[in-house]
Amino acid sequence: MTDDVQPLERLALAGKARQSLKNWIAGAQFLALLAAIDEQGWTRFLAEPRDLDALTDFSGLPPARLRDLVDALEAHGVVERQDRTVRLSAPFEALAADDAMIGLSDLLAGATLMAGKIRAAAQSPGALPLTDDDALVVARAVGGRVTPVSRTLYENLFTGGLPELAGAVRAGRWLDVGCGIAGATLTMATMVPQLRAVAVELVPLVAAEATRRTEALDLTDRVEVRCVDARDVDEKDTFAGAFWAQPFFPESARTATLDMILRALEPGGLLFVQEMEPEPQESDRPAYALRRLVYQGWGVPFGRTAEQLAAEAESAGFALVRIAPTDFGRFVILRRPVE
Ligand SMILES: C[S@@+](CC[C@H](N)C(=O)[O-])C[C@H]1O[C@@H](n2cnc3c(N)ncnc32)[C@H](O)[C@@H]1O
Repeated sequence: MTDDVQPLERLALAGKARQSLKNWIAGAQFLALLAAIDEQGWTRFLAEPRDLDALTDFSGLPPARLRDLVDALEAHGVVERQDRTVRLSAPFEALAADDAMIGLSDLLAGATLMAGKIRAAAQSPGALPLTDDDALVVARAVGGRVTPVSRTLYENLFTGGLPELAGAVRAGRWLDVGCGIAGATLTMATMVPQLRAVAVELVPLVAAEATRRTEALDLTDRVEVRCVDARDVDEKDTFAGAFWAQPFFPESARTATLDMILRALEPGGLLFVQEMEPEPQESDRPAYALRRLVYQGWGVPFGRTAEQLAAEAESAGFALVRIAPTDFGRFVILRRPVE
């Protein structure tokens, strides 16, 4: 009998691990399905109610396969079905629609990129640098599009947690440091007619996309996208405000970038920095640990808190105005001192 105790315990332990594995497997499998149907254009097609026969024609799949797919999508809350009609559920319609701030396809592409980097992190000792294509995927997955939804979000920031931002973009020239696809600057430019900005981006492919979006919005007379290393911006005493996309700047470039921003701002000009990865709640710790693995592999510091960001900028010569809690997380507001 006593000999049986250990195997029984081991059976129970393995059962516990199997349960965890089962949940991860189910999530990974459903993500694979969602990415596949998004690539096939289903998320666009199902934005409107569609008869099952129309979906069968659209997909080119046999009816029995289609039924199983729709069942899986319905069970995960992605679609709703009424009799023979299928459509995206309201939340997924909002996420897949053109007015979503960050769309479903961009989020899925970002998730696929992260999964590849995580595999690479475990399989080789080297760094995990981003290719230019990767940088564009990341910029699209974190940078918002200009839509009524993103404008509402910035309106809430202007009137809610970050009134200083509304003041700075109206007070004079705006500097976006590490602009990505320039979602923030372009959104604000469509809201604030007097906004004049320089948006700086290191990666040519990403800068080209920011330029394309600027042209599409007919904003080239007010937003200048510069493909340059932020450290090489040589303007002095000219910007009323700046935003620094700090989570994407490696340690080696941070001091020189802060020095540049300090020089480029007018005395009294404001710098805004966002805390991207606050200390996680216990339930967020698993995902936080995976993101840290990838970001550290890129060579950028991960998880710098608002207080640490404030100290970093203060040691470059900025004065802390305040740490502002917003619906977007905490922002650090700093000022170039008036000598
Ligand atoms: C992903 S974006 C941030 C999103 C952006 N704020 C928006 O609203 O869309 C950050 C960018 O900083 C860029 N970057 C990193 N180091 C840089 C440097 N030294 N000079 C200029 N850009 C840099 C990265 O290439 C990346 O595209």
